Amino acid sequence: MRPYVILNAAMTLDGKIATSSGSSNISGEDDLKRVHELRKECDAIMVGIGTVLADDPRLTVHKVDAKPKDNPIRVVVDSKCRTPIAARITNKDAKTVIAGANEYKYDFLVSDRYEVLKKRNVNFFWSGDKQVDLKSLMNYLHEEGVEKLMLEGGSTLNFSMIKSGLIDEIRICVAPMVVGGVNSKTFFDGDGFNTMDEAVGLDLVDSYELGKDLILTYKVLND
Ligand SMILES: NC(=O)c1ccc[n+]([C@@H]2O[C@H](COP(=O)([O-])OP(=O)(O)OC[C@H]3O[C@@H](n4cnc5c(N)ncnc54)[C@H](OP(=O)(O)O)[C@@H]3O)[C@@H](O)[C@H]2O)c1
Repeated sequence: MRPYVILNAAMTLDGKIATSSGSSNISGEDDLKRVHELRKECDAIMVGIGTVLADDPRLTVHKVDAKPKDNPIRVVVDSKCRTPIAARITNKDAKTVIAGANEYKYDFLVSDRYEVLKKRNVNFFWSGDKQVDLKSLMNYLHEEGVEKLMLEGGSTLNFSMIKSGLIDEIRICVAPMVVGGVNSKTFFDGDGFNTMDEAVGLDLVDSYELGKDLILTYKVLND
């Protein structure tokens, strides 16, 4: 068993979710409110360590009316436990789980960083050899009561998750801008598939304009 997973992101018309310098303010104000309403509906929000290091997000509900109990559990997919102790995701505004890989577990457990994070009530889940085993992580989160999980990037984790058949729905904000750049992050990066035959199919179930942006909702056609 695993949670229902909704991948949400904002991209430019050319499919970029950040520029090569890391700039990623893409959504309009209305879209940011939509994102925070969605956060409020979910039991957990998950990001990759690349996103934590680039953006230092809080991943709380703070752009719409919300009480502390509305904050979902924050999950960082972070094989080597590189999450900085200063990262905002480790503050006490919400529960946080760092998912690490077994190869790095013992060195981390004897580090000062572990002691600091433990005192902040950060929890840890270990799976996989050198990289987090995403299926095990999803099973664990479901056992912990996570029925609905919002995946908030970035490109590398998005691709691993969809390749593993772990995404059920995609909500994408398409902003009317173009940034280009071969080194700018796209919605899905990772290794990619070799042929179009391997592409993951999608079914468009909703589309509407929100301010200047376009919001598209797709169901993922997992086998
Ligand atoms: N516009 C948007 O909506 C939006 C949203 C989110 C992020 N972003 C942007 O996306 C960029 C970050 O994307 P990113 O691709 O660099 O990083 P990412 O996808 O956030 O994190 C990738 C990292 O996750 C770790 N990981 C652990 N297990 C994994 C697994 N099984 N599969 C895949 N990854 C795994 C890997 O590092 P370890 O092996 O070391 O753990 C990997 O390098 C930032 O520029 C950010 O601004 C944009």
